[in-house]
Amino acid sequence: MSHPTRNAPDPGLPRHFRSCLGAFATGVTIVATCAAEGSVAGLTVNSFNSLSLDPPLVLWSLRRASGNAALFREASNFSVSVLAAGQLGLARHFALSAPERFAGVAHHEGLGGCPLVDAAIAWFECETVSVQELGDHLLFIGRVLRCARVPGVPLVFHQGDFGQTTALDADS
Ligand SMILES: Cc1cc2nc3c(=O)[nH]c(=O)nc-3n(C[C@H](O)[C@H](O)[C@H](O)COP(=O)(O)O)c2cc1C
Repeated sequence: MSHPTRNAPDPGLPRHFRSCLGAFATGVTIVATCAAEGSVAGLTVNSFNSLSLDPPLVLWSLRRASGNAALFREASNFSVSVLAAGQLGLARHFALSAPERFAGVAHHEGLGGCPLVDAAIAWFECETVSVQELGDHLLFIGRVLRCARVPGVPLVFHQGDFGQTTALDADS
């Protein structure tokens, strides 16, 4: 039987690397922060993940070229809102390089002034404990100070498309 990883293109080829990463289905979040002078910023993020249970740590990565990089680096806190399947419009909205993305978006203020998106299915309020420059991204690690969830269907990102989960039968 032929093995698909034999003769596979080099992972240094961006399109191939991105396509392989896209096979890993993720949830979709809005990561947000608040600057010392009170301005807020947020963007669509699917690199969010769990890191440690004790202490409770999470991680995500931000493009170094992002217009929001300096703001996130300097802020003491960030928040993560896990989007519901019905919030596809917000996922698209927060992926655009636009100023004042929270204008007109239903949200409430969390720890450190960080916005939390209303009608999301889970929220993590974090204190930034580490920011590392790795490749073309900044790796943020946050200590979770508070988190909450409500029942709901998550928005999913897979191979460049949005979708939602479907439960499998137990015997499939
Ligand atoms: C589903 C999805 C997931 C994304 N995940 C990330 C991510 O993990 N990190 C990141 O830097 N950008 C991610 N982006 C892109 C940013 O949302 C986008 O580049 C950003 O909002 C552009 O604004 P900026 O230039 O002000 O950063 C993602 C976009 C989409 C649609």
